[in-house]
Amino acid sequence: MRETVPRKIILDCDPGHDDAMAIILAAGNPDISLQAITTVAGNQTLPKVTLNAQRVCTVAGITNVPVIAGCAGPLVRPLVVAPDIHGESGLDGPQWPEPTVPVTPGHAVDAIIDLVMAAGEGEMTLVPTGPLTNIAMAVRKEPRLVPRVREVVLMGGAYTRGNVTPAAEFNIYVDPEAADIVFSADWSVTMVGLDLTHQARATSAVVDRIAALDTPVARMVVDLLHFFGSSYQQEQGFEAPPVHDPTAVARVINPALVECADAFVAVETMGKWTAGMTVTDFRGKLGFPLAAHVATRLDFDGFWSLMIDAIAAVGQGAAVS
Ligand code: BDR
Ligand code: CA
Repeated sequence: MRETVPRKIILDCDPGHDDAMAIILAAGNPDISLQAITTVAGNQTLPKVTLNAQRVCTVAGITNVPVIAGCAGPLVRPLVVAPDIHGESGLDGPQWPEPTVPVTPGHAVDAIIDLVMAAGEGEMTLVPTGPLTNIAMAVRKEPRLVPRVREVVLMGGAYTRGNVTPAAEFNIYVDPEAADIVFSADWSVTMVGLDLTHQARATSAVVDRIAALDTPVARMVVDLLHFFGSSYQQEQGFEAPPVHDPTAVARVINPALVECADAFVAVETMGKWTAGMTVTDFRGKLGFPLAAHVATRLDFDGFWSLMIDAIAAVGQGAAVS
């Protein structure tokens, strides 16, 4: 018998190779109760990332979690996508079967509001792993949701340097106005940014461990990692790809795996060179409370054990949630 009640989360994502792995970790870990997968335009257009969520759920046998489509573009800016990293489909690499997991009717923003308001106070955690458009829209549409949310643990930002520009990380760069709303709201925000996620590299030893599981899901993940690995090698000179998004889920599952420091985080919405930068003040120089938690150090072995256990669990058709 488990002693802990599984944590209810909504995964708001833009699959995306690493989003796919976040879905698997959230569905395959017994300490998480995945309430919904909501999609947002980011790595690719909304129809593509939503189809990708369906594809991943189909292969992984995740049939009991609604997939709900959300915003097709940022609040005020034109959409920027990332085919250089994720391919034209947003999830290039594997041969995908026709998805059998449907898209649940309705809009992600309404689903987020409804699920948070229906859950007990402080029960629902939001885990965004794409641009923050859906979350910001939910805050604007139903501000009473803010104090009901337990915490927001997001993949995005960086306190040293960006990836899409020298200053900005992709998820924040795509919709800085939305990120500003999310970081400014009166709730607990944990920023799992590039400084942390670049420690979560899928080395060849990690890929070998996944391949050894020899299940359809493991084979899908290996194919994803091969494509993702070659993108990162070509675009950023990485020897092994950083698997960003599941580290935010890992922080929810076991906070000890992702060490954090308190800081004030401001999102740059106007900079000529710095739009989308997450200006991170660890020392209170700007005079604001250090209310955000900023991820600094990953337990590499602990993270990959968790991830590989989840891949094994969904591969056995044991997608819990
Ligand atoms: C983030 O951008 C996307 O390409 C990934 O899915 C991840 O969420 C990393 O900057
Ligand atoms: Ca993502």
